[in-house]
Amino acid sequence: MIHTARFLVSNSSIDQCPKSSLPEYAFIGRSNVGKSSIINALTNNKKLAKTSRTPGKTKLINHFLINGAWCLVDLPGYGYAKISKHERKELKTLIQGYFSKRKQLVNTFVLIDSRHEPQDIDVNFINTLGAKQYPFSIVFTKVDKLSKTQRQNNISVYKSHLLDQGWENVPPLFESSAKTGEGKKEILNYIETINSNL
Ligand code: GTP
Ligand code: MG
Repeated sequence: MIHTARFLVSNSSIDQCPKSSLPEYAFIGRSNVGKSSIINALTNNKKLAKTSRTPGKTKLINHFLINGAWCLVDLPGYGYAKISKHERKELKTLIQGYFSKRKQLVNTFVLIDSRHEPQDIDVNFINTLGAKQYPFSIVFTKVDKLSKTQRQNNISVYKSHLLDQGWENVPPLFESSAKTGEGKKEILNYIETINSNL
């Protein structure tokens, strides 16, 4: 259960991330996939993380302190076309630096829009996390926009695609909607289980 959620800091440099060693859970994925929205849904606070219809809203690393004990981290989206090459490179360095340096990071949720077929940019990102043995799970977002059949079909296509990539098992999968709140309980239980085993 989340009792308190508080914005801590936004920054564009790994060195400025909170110094505490509280465990943290990061949300990453394409721009507009719903990273900020899911953080708001999980914390029952529509205004905590800034969301937008326009992709590319989150450009900084944002830390939110939960129950005074652990953090949710909203990361900038990848794959947003309308930014300069320079900005893209900076974002890439920021994201890579975060993953390689942040020892407190205990799990990453890779968000995938449940409406689409597997996209190279996401699959490559997942493969990179896997190759580096960073723990992660997949969250299919915006499931409220699909019928039950479409949803089942898209998710099973995704699973097969991952298995085709040479994954022996698929990572933990969640289905979520920031609109209906579906998936919140499962994601929070998952986080709590990890926290209680640290
Ligand atoms: P960037 O910060 O730009 O990378 O985007 P983001 O991944 O943080 O996405 P954000 O949470 O800002 O959401 C993008 C848009 O999708 C907003 O208009 C949200 O209202 C909408 N959205 C997010 N999650 C859901 C969902 O589960 N269902 C529906 N229907 N819309 C959603
Ligand atoms: Mg965002």
